[in-house]
Amino acid sequence: MPDLFSPYTLKGVTLRNRTVMSPMTMYNSVDGQLDDYHVSYLGARAAGGFALVFGEQMAITPEGRTTTSCGGIWKDSQIEGHARVCKIIERMGAVPAIQLGHTGRKGSELPPHRGVNANGSKKQLPPDHPDGWTCLAPSAIPYGSGGHIYPVHALTVEEIKGLHQSYADAAVRALAAGYKWLELHFAHGYLGASFFSPLANKRSDQYGGSVANRARFHLEAIDAVRAVWPEKYPLTMRLGVDDLNPAGTQFDDAVEAIKMMKAHGLDLADLSLGFNTDEMIDSPMKNVGFMVERAHRVRSEVGIAVATSWNLGVPQNADRYIRQELIDLVMLGRPALANPHWPVWAARELGYGSPFSLVQSDWRWWLENFRGHAPSIGWPEVQPLQAPDQARKAA
Ligand SMILES: Cc1cc2nc3c(=O)[nH]c(=O)nc-3n(C[C@H](O)[C@H](O)[C@H](O)COP(=O)(O)O)c2cc1C
Repeated sequence: MPDLFSPYTLKGVTLRNRTVMSPMTMYNSVDGQLDDYHVSYLGARAAGGFALVFGEQMAITPEGRTTTSCGGIWKDSQIEGHARVCKIIERMGAVPAIQLGHTGRKGSELPPHRGVNANGSKKQLPPDHPDGWTCLAPSAIPYGSGGHIYPVHALTVEEIKGLHQSYADAAVRALAAGYKWLELHFAHGYLGASFFSPLANKRSDQYGGSVANRARFHLEAIDAVRAVWPEKYPLTMRLGVDDLNPAGTQFDDAVEAIKMMKAHGLDLADLSLGFNTDEMIDSPMKNVGFMVERAHRVRSEVGIAVATSWNLGVPQNADRYIRQELIDLVMLGRPALANPHWPVWAARELGYGSPFSLVQSDWRWWLENFRGHAPSIGWPEVQPLQAPDQARKAA
């Protein structure tokens, strides 16, 4: 039976454990470049024991960014920054992963730390703003909520083919930079998510209507990337499998689409929500592990490896989902931001025999062998876990 710290092999890549730093946009790039900032924070997470480390969604074209401060890989001059990131992640014992994407209707935004709407959603800039542009979409329907009201451009078939070429070109650059794992971002209301959602996709051509047609954008993107991305390296995708709205993406359709993607060479499905609308029925955002059940259904019905995120940062939960073989990998977003050493901390919390085996061997040696007062090194001894009734009595 695997646990959170069991190694995991997919294609020719072996991860040292099941913890993944989930992709997170950082709004810290100039002209899409990665620099010391990215080397530093991604290197720190690799040093902290994560087995697979993603930066943020990397835009395949400049209009594929969320904001003009987002990272990208749409031109060769961006490869060098990515190569530095890959090098530090590998040096710290983790595998470097890239998420390629295009924000579609949710682009042309202001970074959240520079201002949000009253409801906390990100602000969109008008197309004539110096940091704005006309967003691209399957149909000429703006996202609508949160000030995303500016007209969007419905992609022509020719332009869709151009984007698939951009996915492939970006994958070639990713390989040159040293990435060993590539994920396509088809969730969170971005372009791939909106092609799959009937809320955003009202096309009457081969890209709209039936499940097979709404999945065509994704299947062609997978084909384009698979043609240039080595078989030995995993090709995965994050799909928004549910809009939690009767007029939006339905989970059963997503399961069908993932079956098709598997037939096109997909190695793992990373499941998330569609976020193609703010109007979600019974939003589960505060629930622990709310994607796990859906992920497990995909795992058993499609017969493909699965990963998921959302509220998995309590070690006991993360470990249980792996032990029960509900999911193959645990994606951690905010916990990875909050604690670069989350895997080591989780190993201590779970009473795992050698938590410091998760960090590089020279650090491990010092942490396990150098004489001194153990609690003073910053990792106090863990108290045995108490059952809830014992904890109540003690309080
Ligand atoms: C600051 C921030 C930026 C994010 N950017 C991305 C992104 O670029 N791509 C993506 O697929 N998900 C993105 N996410 C979602 C995370 O990858 C993750 O799925 C989500 O935070 C839920 O996991 P958690 O509960 O562990 O935080 C972002 C989340 C945060 C907090």
